[in-house]
Amino acid sequence: MRSHYCGQLNETQVDKEVALCGWVHRRRDHGGVIFLDLRDRDGIAQIVVDPDTPEAFANADRARNEFVLRIRGRIRLRPDGTQNPNMPTGMIEVLASDVEVLNTAATPPFQLDEHGKVGEEIRLKHRYIDLRRPEMIDKLRLRSRITHSVRAYLEAQGFLDIETPILTRATPEGARDYLVPSRTHPGEFFALPQSPQLFKQLLMVSGFDRYYQIAKCFRDEDLRADRQPEFTQIDLEASFVEESDIMSLTEGMICQLFQEVLDVNLPAFPKMPYSEAMNRYGSDKPDLRIPLELVDVNDLMRDVDFKVFSGPAKADDGRVAALKVTGGAKLSRKDIDAYTDFVNIYGAKGLAWIKVNERAKGIEGLQSPIVKFMEGIIEPLLDRVGAEDGDIIFFGADKTRVVNEALGALRVKLGEDLDLYTQDWAPLWVVDFPMFEADDAGRLAALHHPFTAPSCTPEAFKSEPAKALSRAYDMVLNGTELGGGSIRIHDQAMQRAVFEVLGIGEEEAEEKFGFLLDALRFGAPPHGGLAFGLDRLVMLMSGAKTIREVIAFPKTQSAACLMTDAPGEVSAEQLKELNIRLRPKAQQGGNGEV
Ligand code: AMO
Ligand code: AMP
Repeated sequence: MRSHYCGQLNETQVDKEVALCGWVHRRRDHGGVIFLDLRDRDGIAQIVVDPDTPEAFANADRARNEFVLRIRGRIRLRPDGTQNPNMPTGMIEVLASDVEVLNTAATPPFQLDEHGKVGEEIRLKHRYIDLRRPEMIDKLRLRSRITHSVRAYLEAQGFLDIETPILTRATPEGARDYLVPSRTHPGEFFALPQSPQLFKQLLMVSGFDRYYQIAKCFRDEDLRADRQPEFTQIDLEASFVEESDIMSLTEGMICQLFQEVLDVNLPAFPKMPYSEAMNRYGSDKPDLRIPLELVDVNDLMRDVDFKVFSGPAKADDGRVAALKVTGGAKLSRKDIDAYTDFVNIYGAKGLAWIKVNERAKGIEGLQSPIVKFMEGIIEPLLDRVGAEDGDIIFFGADKTRVVNEALGALRVKLGEDLDLYTQDWAPLWVVDFPMFEADDAGRLAALHHPFTAPSCTPEAFKSEPAKALSRAYDMVLNGTELGGGSIRIHDQAMQRAVFEVLGIGEEEAEEKFGFLLDALRFGAPPHGGLAFGLDRLVMLMSGAKTIREVIAFPKTQSAACLMTDAPGEVSAEQLKELNIRLRPKAQQGGNGEV
């Protein structure tokens, strides 16, 4: 039906006869001549219809926004003074000989160029219209180029694309499972995979050696801007590898991808131990574009006459940290109050500060609600953070976890608010993670997943498991965790030992992971891998603010699809077949709406 996409036309094709198909973006009636902006996924072309072609003219006359048309005509240069240099096809127009209305359209719920005013709900409800917008088309096209580049790289490296099941058993990645009732096994449920983790390990036991998959994953967890209940991983696994093999392979993949798709040469990827990332940036995914750092001042604060500081400074699990912002003395009281409210969200009980107006004047040159407590230590304190005139120093004092979270988040917020970025892209590897983290009751949970190998000997692991570090690595870009992976446990005894530390008894381990433990007995090679969050990668590369913007049909923050109205109720008959009886509405839990 068509010879060209609208956006492909240009002045080298003048006098060519073309056939175009697309949607009416705009229609203007200029005293007897009708101008149609015809849009398809490649762009917009201006169509001119004049009354000399009465049939075409009549059809153009009844066309309205979003009608679907087929146009035949000849390309010509736009008359002088009517060219539009801001439009790729702005030098030419198509003089129509024939206009065919392929379909009409009801008035759309919003004008494509007014999407900003209607809010995300309306856009998601009519996503098929929202996706007609050039910005959305660009993002999904970028996504397609990204998966293409990644596939080409991995195929060239000998990776095989192998699919793994969606109806399966739980794979623990730290979220709740989505469950699917089985009709053929009454009372039993499948779980949708939180990742292909166990299957890819089993493929290594089978000897496939190098596997990859662009895999759908499902996690019922609290949603945020960079999380969806259903998302996509670039998942890979390889045998006979060590950390450095997987890291250089995937670093090469990301560098090639940025080069091919964005024409960007990424800088080197530094490696940073987890403990250093937490100490210096308060985060295990530091945004290294921002030149601010947390500085420990526990030793200086132990004996100050201010319990808020001296308490945590002396406590084993306490921390007092300073965050100096160059030029920050210009912040107003109102700004500081807003930042104090901001750190409250992370559990901080306050945000002490010192403005350095004129350092040479000693304490007189400082402005601060806490300076009266600092008299004896002011000079070493200012030296420690390298304070100069015009700076502000913020302080956090609390449990280490609270201080890291609060000042870590404040650091990112200040970077954004004051535009402190020193570079466009700052990638890094975070390594040497602890195997486990303890909850308030002292129970240990896997920081990555329970299949990650410890970096110590089995003996050292067994004697002090809580202290063990893991062979895990995360790739971080601009403060976002792009991907994570590890070298896995391939020894059955070690896998059992880790389950035991996690409080998974032998019976439970057998019930949930018997197939894995079994497989480990039948010649499991040393292996490891990594998974990237594809949606996050596309978000960063496209400059989108949320991953919803780079997913064709995303879910809302409450994990629903506004367009299809999913999840939805099912018929009594279906429930009966599945052997499921629902509680009466009044007794149902959750958000009370189900
Ligand atoms: P992990 O749980 O770290 O590791 O996930 C890997 C990457 O997937 C992305 N991601 C998400 N993206 C969008 N929405 C979500 N809800 C979501 N959850 C995770 C992140 C993350 O870095 N099997 C292991 C990988 C391995 O060890 O090989 C795994 O799934 O970008
Ligand atoms: P106060 O003595 O409570 O008026 O606090 C004096 C200053 O210390 C104020 O600027 C508070 O915001 C700040 N502050 C209070 N608690 C903390 C804390 N846990 N960490 C950092 N600053 C705090």
